[in-house]
Amino acid sequence: MKAVILVGGFGTRLRPLTVTTPKQMLPVVDRPMIEYVVSTLKRGGVSEVTLALGYKEDLFRAAYPDAVCDGVSLSYAVEPEPLDTAGAVRFAADAAGIDEPFLAVNGDVLTDVDVGSLWDRHRETGAQATIALTRVGDPSRYGVVPTDPRGKVLGFIEKPNRDEAPTNWVNAGVYVLEPEILGRIASGRRVSIEREVFPSLVAEKGLWAVKSEAYWIDIGTPSTYVQAQLDLIDGVRGAAMAGIAADARVDEDAEVERSVVMEGAAVAAGAVARDSIIMEGAVIERDALVDGSVIGPGARIGEGAKVTGLSIVGDRVSVGAGLLVDGSKIPSSA
Ligand code: GDD
Ligand code: MG
Repeated sequence: MKAVILVGGFGTRLRPLTVTTPKQMLPVVDRPMIEYVVSTLKRGGVSEVTLALGYKEDLFRAAYPDAVCDGVSLSYAVEPEPLDTAGAVRFAADAAGIDEPFLAVNGDVLTDVDVGSLWDRHRETGAQATIALTRVGDPSRYGVVPTDPRGKVLGFIEKPNRDEAPTNWVNAGVYVLEPEILGRIASGRRVSIEREVFPSLVAEKGLWAVKSEAYWIDIGTPSTYVQAQLDLIDGVRGAAMAGIAADARVDEDAEVERSVVMEGAAVAAGAVARDSIIMEGAVIERDALVDGSVIGPGARIGEGAKVTGLSIVGDRVSVGAGLLVDGSKIPSSA
C-alpha cells in the first residue's frame, strides 16, 4: 500500500521553532513528528511513503539519507512552489507513479486511527474518497463534516465560525483516495483538497467517512505541540514514555514536573519546569521557572527568569536573568 504524507507547510503557528526546522521534523518527546505518522501508516499496512515536500525539504532528506523511516521506504516529491493540500497530493502521486487507490495524510497529525478499517470501508462503499473523522470540542479550527447514518458525507465546511458548525465531527486528515481524483486536480496551481476537491465530491455523493474514537491530535499549534507530548509521557496514548532523556542533566535540587527534557538539556538547582517542553541542549539556570511553555533547542533561561503562559523561546535565544516572559514568542518577529 502506498501513501502520500503532506509535509510542505510553513508551520507558521509554531514559529519561531519552525524558522529553523520544518514542523514535521520537530521532535516529539524522543523523535521527529514524522516518525509517528509513518508508524501509524505502517501499522495500517503501508510499505511505501512519498513525502510531499516544499519548505525546508533538505532537512527531511538529511534525516533519512538511506530513504528509509521505521522500515518504510521513502521517496521525496519537492514542489517548485507550494501547491496547497490537493495540489501537493497530485504532485506527489504523479512523482511516485501512483495509479491505484492510495492513502494521503496530513503530516502533523498524531493518531491511532485504524487505517485498515478506513480502507475496508472504502472498498465496501465504492466511494471516490473515504476520510477519517474525529470528534473535537471546538470544530472551528478544522474541516467540519456532517454525514448520514451510513457515513455518506453531506457537507465539507473548512474552518467555519464556531456557531455555524453543524457537528463536532471533523476531518482527521487521513484519506483513502481513488487515483481518478488526481485527474480532477488542476496541475501547476494551488488547489485545496478541503475547499475544492472534497466539496465537489460531496456534490457528486462520492465522499464517505468513517468516525473514529481513537487517539487523535493535530500538533500544529503551540498548545497541541505541548499537549501531544504530555499525553505521551502521561500514558494517555499507549504506555507512558520517559520524559527526561537519558543524557539530560537535571540537578537533584531541580523540580521537573510533567515535562519533557530532551537530549543534552540541563535544569539547574532550584529551577522548576512544569508542564513544559525543554528541547535539545536548552539550559534552565538556577531558580528559573518554566511553566506550560516550550524552550527551543540550545536556548538559555537565565537565573531566576520566569517563562510562563504558553510562551515559545526560539532556538539559541537567551532570556536574561530575572526576566519575565508570559504568553510570548521570542523572537516575536519570527
Ligand atoms: N506539500 C505541501 N504543500 N504540504 C502542505 C501545503 C503545501 O502547499 N500546505 C499545507 N501542507 C501540509 C502541512 O504541512 C500539514 O502537514 C498538512 O498539509 C495540513 O496543513 P495544516 O496547515 O496543518 O492544516 P490545518 O491543520 O489548518 O487543517 C487541516 O488539518 C485538519 C486536521 O488536522 C485540514 O485538512 C482540516 O480539514 C483538518 O480538520
Ligand atoms: Mg494541521
